[in-house]
Amino acid sequence: MSVIEYLPLETERLLLRRYTLADAPAIYRINSSEEVTRYLPFGPMMSEEDAKGQLERFFLPAYERADSGQRGPGGLPLDLKFAACLKDTGELVGMVFVETSDGSCELGYTVDPRWWGRGIATEMCQAVVDLARRLGLTRLTATVDVRNTASERVLAHIGMKPRRPAEGIWQGGEKNGCRLWELELAPSGGTASAP
Ligand SMILES: CC(C)(COP(=O)(O)OP(=O)(O)OC[C@H]1O[C@@H](n2cnc3c(N)ncnc32)[C@H](O)[C@@H]1OP(=O)(O)O)[C@@H](O)C(=O)NCCC(=O)NCCS
Repeated sequence: MSVIEYLPLETERLLLRRYTLADAPAIYRINSSEEVTRYLPFGPMMSEEDAKGQLERFFLPAYERADSGQRGPGGLPLDLKFAACLKDTGELVGMVFVETSDGSCELGYTVDPRWWGRGIATEMCQAVVDLARRLGLTRLTATVDVRNTASERVLAHIGMKPRRPAEGIWQGGEKNGCRLWELELAPSGGTASAP
């Protein structure tokens, strides 16, 4: 089954759906502060135009490719890119994706700082893990700056395991240490086969 047939993904507080161009203001708001990009390999967004550019270059083309039947390496779905919105208000509070175009299955996520510490990242990432399992993905990875404690707590909550040091990322002229986290996925109804 394709990703879109499962949408919106529903959790206790959230609906995960595809992005549209109308999400540019919210994406800019979420990604425009240094506290959000502190441990990421890029700096804050400078304008809503930046957010629109991200939608036009990465998110929307991935949906188009998926809808036209294209798949990534190894048959991976290309459209695992979700806006996480509060069920009761529709507010976009989180962004979560699995990068598959390079065959990596790398999980990425960001939450609106106004909502940090309330379990939003854990809830939306768990929904994506569950979907990945149902779609037959066999493995997810995440590469995290070792100082990003909140992010590593999220990964631990969703069952990922720290595996090994990973290539650090450059930021502000400094190379930060990273750690690779991994989750082996078993098919729906089965148990994960992580050693
Ligand atoms: C990482 C991030 C997504 C977490 O979002 P969140 O919705 O606040 O996460 P949750 O509420 O689900 O869980 C956060 C966990 O980190 C802990 N935490 C939060 N801030 C912390 C801090 N400064 N130091 C230590 N732990 C912290 C919380 O206590 C919680 O753990 P617990 O449930 O075991 O108590 C959010 O901080 C963020 O968007 N950061 C910027 C982008 C980013 O770094 N993304 C990850 C890239 S790998």
